[in-house]
Formats: sequence, structure tokens, C-alpha cells
Amino acid sequence: MNWHASVLTLFPEMFPGPLGHSLAGKALRESRWALDAIDIRGFATDRHRSVDDTPCGGGAGMVLRPDVVDAAVGAALAAGPDRPAVVLTPRGTPLDQSTVRRLAEGAGVVVLCGRFEGIDQRVIEARNLQEISIGDYVLSGGEPAAMVLLDACVRLLPGVMGAADSAVEESFSGGLLEYPHYTRPAEWNGRAVPPVLLSGHHAEIARWRRAEAERITRERRPDLWARLHPNAAEAGAMDGRPAAA
Ligand code: ADE
Repeated sequence: MNWHASVLTLFPEMFPGPLGHSLAGKALRESRWALDAIDIRGFATDRHRSVDDTPCGGGAGMVLRPDVVDAAVGAALAAGPDRPAVVLTPRGTPLDQSTVRRLAEGAGVVVLCGRFEGIDQRVIEARNLQEISIGDYVLSGGEPAAMVLLDACVRLLPGVMGAADSAVEESFSGGLLEYPHYTRPAEWNGRAVPPVLLSGHHAEIARWRRAEAERITRERRPDLWARLHPNAAEAGAMDGRPAAA
């Protein structure tokens, strides 16, 4: 069986969307993974086909009903029971590459896209839904977040990634952000390619790239840098600057 993603959404027509193009789309056509988008509204039971209701305790917005969500998750799991179920929500655990890797190594994933103000907590607990966020900002729904999650997983599936992408993956796995890239022309609008990259000295090029990756990581992501060098603050020497007094 290939890797199977089921997306539970009120907007199934949004899928595959961007996932039908580029690397993930090619892999989908090659059956390296399978995708079904399931309409949550199809599991409504009343004559108005309602999927949400007002929040207990009052307040703005609507909450997805537990019975409807439970039926939708149950239907998805019937088609592939050995898959973790996740829900995309800004209050979830931040998505990172290790979570992506773990999901890509499994049988697939059931992805519930949040809408409205939220989802009834009881079905999150009853179905053991893992809450995942793609970042500290609020989207109007979980669908774009589901696409981000699936894209990140699919590129890791066997036979999907090219050699160039694999190298990027390895470099990120080292915990550093990528070094800058250049191509021809050697000079463009008065800006030169760093001479070392044209020198042919492979060891020096590797050293320059490593130093640039470290500089960029330090400047942009002190959190990642601190994880790599937990004692750097006391040692003060990792970036060549003296420690603060
Ligand atoms: N739904 C709305 N905002 C989101 C976010 N930041 N991550 C995941 N799902 C979301």
C-alpha cells in the first residue's frame, strides 16, 4: 500500500489544489501516494446538514460538532486504520521536520482541517487527534496548513525527491539554515559572485558554505543556534565575540 492521506474538510474542492502540481502532483500521478478529500458535511445528520453549533458558555463564532467530526474521522480510518489522525489549528504543537519525517515513515495520515472558532474538545480527546500548527499566525481555515503538511511529507516518500532536494534535506537535518546560492553570470548589475565559489578549491568552498550557514542561522534563528550550541552563551566563543559580562 502506498502512503495514504485523507483530508476532512468543508471545502473538498480545494484539494488537490497546489498538491496536484510540481513534485507532489507528479508523485500523485505516479501513485507514490494517494489523496482523498472527504466532505465533513456529508456526515451531518439533520435536515439542515449542520456541522457546527454555538459555543457552550457563550462567545463569538461557531464550534464544529463532535458527532459529525467523529463520524467523518471514523469513515476515513475505515479506509486505512493504521494512520495517525491530526488536526490543523493555530493552538497546536509547532510542525517541524522531525514530525514530518515521523508521519512520512508511517502508512499515511488523516488530516482534519479546522474551521470556525474551533472543534469540540471531546472529539479531539476521544479520537486522540494530534493538534498541529504551521506557525504563529492565524489562517482562515486549516486547508492551506494541511497542504503545507502534506507537501512536506510527500517529498520525503521513496522515489519522490531528486538528488538536489535530498542534499537540502540533509543540510537542514544538520540543524543549520542553508548557505546562499549563486549561478552565472559571475557579475550581475555590479554584484559579484563570492570569488571563493569560482576558485575550484572544494575544501575552501565547503568551509565558506559552512561559515555562511552558521552566520545565517545565528542571525535569523537564535533558537536553532542555541539548540546546536547549548553552552554558547556562557562560552561566548561560538561566534567569535566575547561573552557578555
Ligand atoms: N488554522 C488556522 N491557522 C492555522 C495555523 N497557523 N496552523 C495550522 N492550522 C491553522
